[in-house]
Parts: sequence; structure tokens; C-alpha cells
Amino acid sequence: MVISLNSIKGGVGKSTLAVNLAAWLVSQGHDVLLVDGDEQETASDFTAWREQTLGQTGFTLVNMTGANLRKQVEQMKVKYDHIVIDTGGRDTTSQRAALSVADVALIPFAPRSFDLWTINKVIELIDEIQAVRNEPLIPYVFLSRADIKSADNREVSQALAGFAQLTFLPYPISNRKAFSNAAGVGLAVFETETPDSKAVAEINSLFTHVLHGHNTPATA
Ligand SMILES: Nc1ncnc2c1ncn2[C@@H]1O[C@H](COP(=O)(O)OP(=O)(O)O)[C@@H](O)[C@H]1O
Ligand SMILES: [Mg+2]
Repeated sequence: MVISLNSIKGGVGKSTLAVNLAAWLVSQGHDVLLVDGDEQETASDFTAWREQTLGQTGFTLVNMTGANLRKQVEQMKVKYDHIVIDTGGRDTTSQRAALSVADVALIPFAPRSFDLWTINKVIELIDEIQAVRNEPLIPYVFLSRADIKSADNREVSQALAGFAQLTFLPYPISNRKAFSNAAGVGLAVFETETPDSKAVAEINSLFTHVLHGHNTPATA
């Protein structure tokens, strides 16, 4: 499966989720390619830390941006079980290339920075992409960097669930230090010495649905 992380806003947790997903797929025994499609190279920095911490990364990393990304991913699809693409928020060429080649798009929304302008832009982009695809893209939206206890979460969830073009997943990723601490040394949240069990449970729920449940409706 080709899974891309997309958003129009930066700082919503795309790179954090991309590297956790790549490591998570490896932990399930899959052969994984991580594509860093962002010129800021967060996923590449993570991978360099990972090599220092673990001595090996477990997945293959490549950097690809722009229109080239689509053709290259298309060619590499047969060589890997799964390809995870991290994109930059502002680079629309890479973003479109990733959305056109992906089977599934993971589109995180951070509740505090949520606004209608962003969601409308996302829907415009998805509509445009769907119109030129042979097989439809599955665009998943969900909360990322959510407050552990906040009324905002409920409001934003309801808003996200209200768009026919998007599939809302009721598996939020909360704002937890464990995510940034682990990523800072090149590890996924389940790989640290004393993993935060709540953070681990959150990514397990989200990623399990993405990997196995994409043909079935999401249930909370
Ligand atoms: N679930 C989370 N909990 C706590 N911090 C997070 C979480 N997700 C991301 N962060 C932190 O937020 C910042 C932006 O995250 P990042 O994954 O780089 O976002 P993006 O790729 O969308 O720009 C980073 O400092 C990262 O460590
Ligand atoms: Mg990023």
C-alpha cells in the first residue's frame, strides 16, 4: 500500500506520524520505503538519528520532491510491501504528486489550529485529485496533537466527520511528550526504553485501521 501524509498546514504531526508509521510497519515484518517529500527533511533527520541510536533503520529512505515523486514511487511500488510518503505542507507539487500516487492519504488536523479555510482547501485539492485518478484515493482525516481533555476535540471531530469527500477516523493522536521525545532520538513511540502506553495505543488504533480496515467502516 502507498500511504501519504498530507496537510496544507505545517506542524500538525505529519512527519511524526510518517516516521512512526514506517517503524510500525517494519515492526509488523513489512518491507518499507520511507519517502521524504519535504525539502525541510524532517523524516531524513529522524532516519539519521535512528541509524545512530539503533545502528540500522529497518526501512529504506529516499528523498524525492516535485513532480518526479509520482513516477519514482510508481516504479518502486513493486519492490516494497508498503511505501510511506511524508510531504511538506506548503509544497503543492509534491503534495499533489503524493496524492495522485497514494492509495491512502492520512490528513491530520490539530484542533487548536483548525479553521474552515484549511479544510476547504483540502477538499478542493482532494476533489481535483479524485477527478483524474483511475482508482479513488481514500482520504482519511483525524485529530492529531489533540488536547488530552478538551471540548475542542469534539467540535473539530464533528466538523471533520461532516464532509462527504473525507473519511473521518475516530482514532485521535494526542499531544504527548512521548512522541517528540522518541522522534528526537530516531525512535517510534513503541521503541523507547519505557514506552508511553497511551501513545502506543493511539498509534496502534490508527495504523491498524489504516493497514487492515480500509475496506470496512471505522468504528470507535
Ligand atoms: N502527537 C504529538 N505530541 C506531541 N508533539 C508532537 C506530536 N506530533 C508532533 N509533535 C511535535 O510537533 C512539531 C511538529 O510536528 P511534525 O511532525 O514535524 O509536523 P509536520 O510534519 O506536520 O510539520 C514537532 O516538534 C513534533 O515533535
Ligand atoms: Mg513535516
